[in-house]
Amino acid sequence: MKYSKIIGTGSYLPEKILTNADLEKFVDTSDQWIRERTGIRQRHVTADDETTGDLAYQAALRAMEAAEVEPGDIDLIILGTTTPDVIFPSTASLLQNRLGLPHVGAMDVNAACTGFLYALSIADKWIRVGDARRALVIGAESITRLVDWDDRQTCVLFGDGAGAVVIEGSDEPGILSTHIHANGEHAGLLGTDVGVSAGFRQEEKNCGISIQMKGNEVFKVAVRTLSRIVDETLEANGMDRSDVDWLIPHQANLRIISATGKKLALPDERVVVTVDRHGNTSAASVPLALDEAVRDGRIQRGEVLLLEAFGGGFTWGSALVRY
Ligand code: ACO
Repeated sequence: MKYSKIIGTGSYLPEKILTNADLEKFVDTSDQWIRERTGIRQRHVTADDETTGDLAYQAALRAMEAAEVEPGDIDLIILGTTTPDVIFPSTASLLQNRLGLPHVGAMDVNAACTGFLYALSIADKWIRVGDARRALVIGAESITRLVDWDDRQTCVLFGDGAGAVVIEGSDEPGILSTHIHANGEHAGLLGTDVGVSAGFRQEEKNCGISIQMKGNEVFKVAVRTLSRIVDETLEANGMDRSDVDWLIPHQANLRIISATGKKLALPDERVVVTVDRHGNTSAASVPLALDEAVRDGRIQRGEVLLLEAFGGGFTWGSALVRY
């Protein structure tokens, strides 16, 4: 098969909603500041007994239903997440069993907000070399579990959710290209400085783990880097920006999204925006936005979609897709 093709999409958001007004009650912030600086109005948050795997499971079921495939039709599962249920087994392995899939390869990929695009890139290659016929690719996060709710610089930004696609081999295009990158040089600008083998402090709240971000500096690098990846993607495909019908960006900040939309000279209505209602759902944000625009009928078969993301690592990536 020359290409892999998206044959179904699905997504899921936890029921609990936290509005900016809710945040105003326990942190020194305002609805106006959050909306003006980020575009976010509300975000969904997992319940105490809900896990990343629970969100991923629902999104996967919906994607498989849309693709009209049965568990036995899937022969690879890749899950982009920074917030797995447990350290191991991988959340993808747990899902393999829960979805009743055959004993197929299952793996988690941690590339922070770029996790879904990394997962999609890997699955695309597996299909194109002929080692898989159909893959379930998911981005899922309970990223709010890593949030320090006393830190107004970060706690207003994040939300939880999951998005999924089923891709299968096709002679027709398909995923036209994927690009993934990483540069660990500026790891200190965005991430957690505590993990399992570094800095773990059992006696502290959340064992000392929380998202640390120098938002201002991340913002500048994100805008520059996303501009470069737009150029790289179009050049690799011999395409012009006028060939792109839809931008499906990572949803971190409306101002970053607008900058990339302008770079592509796309009118606002051709840029899929969910950040206002979802916040930054990290690896889940791109497949959540894709599923929303597919299901409400905005995205039509045959159109060209540019998916892009930037996140902790730094990592960044894109996929150009003829839907
Ligand atoms: N409410 C009110 N005031 C606040 C808040 C808040 N929630 N947060 C910060 N402020 C204040 C600051 O203290 C500062 O006050 P000062 O001027 O008195 O010092 C002022 O607002 C401006 O702060 P900045 O950080 O300069 O604000 P900025 O316009 O840069 O917006 C933001 C901050 C929204 C975080 C922005 O920088 C951003 O979106 N950065 C990029 C985030 C991103 O893309 N992350 C990548 C993906 S995340 C991942 O990979 C998991």
